[in-house]
Amino acid sequence: MEQGEYTLSEREFTRIKARVYDVAGISLSNAKRTLVVSRLSKIVRALNLPSFDAYVDFLERGGSSKDGQDFVNALTTNLTRFYREDHHFDHLRTHVASLIAGKPRGSRLRLWSAGCSTGQEPYTIALDLLDAFPELKRWDFKILATDIDTAVIARAAQGIYPQSELSGLSADRARPFERQADGTIRVPAAAREIVAFKPLNLIGPWPMKGPFDAIFCRNVAIYFDKQTQGEVFGRFAKMVAPEGFLYIGHSENLGSGGDAFRLVGKTIYQMRETPNKRVAA
Ligand SMILES: C[S@@+](CC[C@H](N)C(=O)[O-])C[C@H]1O[C@@H](n2cnc3c(N)ncnc32)[C@H](O)[C@@H]1O
Repeated sequence: MEQGEYTLSEREFTRIKARVYDVAGISLSNAKRTLVVSRLSKIVRALNLPSFDAYVDFLERGGSSKDGQDFVNALTTNLTRFYREDHHFDHLRTHVASLIAGKPRGSRLRLWSAGCSTGQEPYTIALDLLDAFPELKRWDFKILATDIDTAVIARAAQGIYPQSELSGLSADRARPFERQADGTIRVPAAAREIVAFKPLNLIGPWPMKGPFDAIFCRNVAIYFDKQTQGEVFGRFAKMVAPEGFLYIGHSENLGSGGDAFRLVGKTIYQMRETPNKRVAA
């Protein structure tokens, strides 16, 4: 077998699907079979195990926390880019403009990028808002960026990307990135300092209290089944500030988690008005 890939039986695939669903809420379709084989074969070989069955047995017996994390990291899909679905950033700018107009300098502004992958989403928010509102440097402005995949979180925290990440961006959007001697680009320190990257499983406990003036959870729930989607989106209702917004991915909807929200734009939600709470239009 050496450098080749291991054979994945139907039973082994079922066990792997069950495990990644249990630990991460990720529902792998049968179309992901090839991906599972190619991504997990490397790990199984490195552990010197004879088969996927032996690998799942090993994980079920406990493995180490690193082994469990490597399994999840291998099965996430991390596709992202700067200014993805950029109508959300236009909308956020309008929201932040009204917060700035209505609050004293130095006020708190908290945003959450949930399922941030390699960081392009939270850095886009930071770059875009700092550019539009330089006065935010004097605000208590922080972005929490979380993901279940510890490998992407570690890369995101560096803020270093290949030059190709800038293709498709306007000159104005590309300008703030620092060009490095090795040909890579780096997110400027002013934006990096605002973003705190932390590992967080959205189907586990959430240690932070909020509230957040806006939450981005885009193209993450697409990997969950309907029930998990509803549960996760429903939990965001407790974390969004009364006049804050929830932004989700272009192909997603809130499903059973949508009771507390009303749709105010393309995949943009705000909390429903309650008798005790006034919600901005
Ligand atoms: C396709 S990326 C989306 C990145 C970014 N939000 C965007 O829209 O460009 C999906 C991310 O969701 C993360 N993810 C999947 N299951 C998760 C879970 N249970 N908890 C937290 N993050 C999860 C993956 O690790 C991956 O980085």
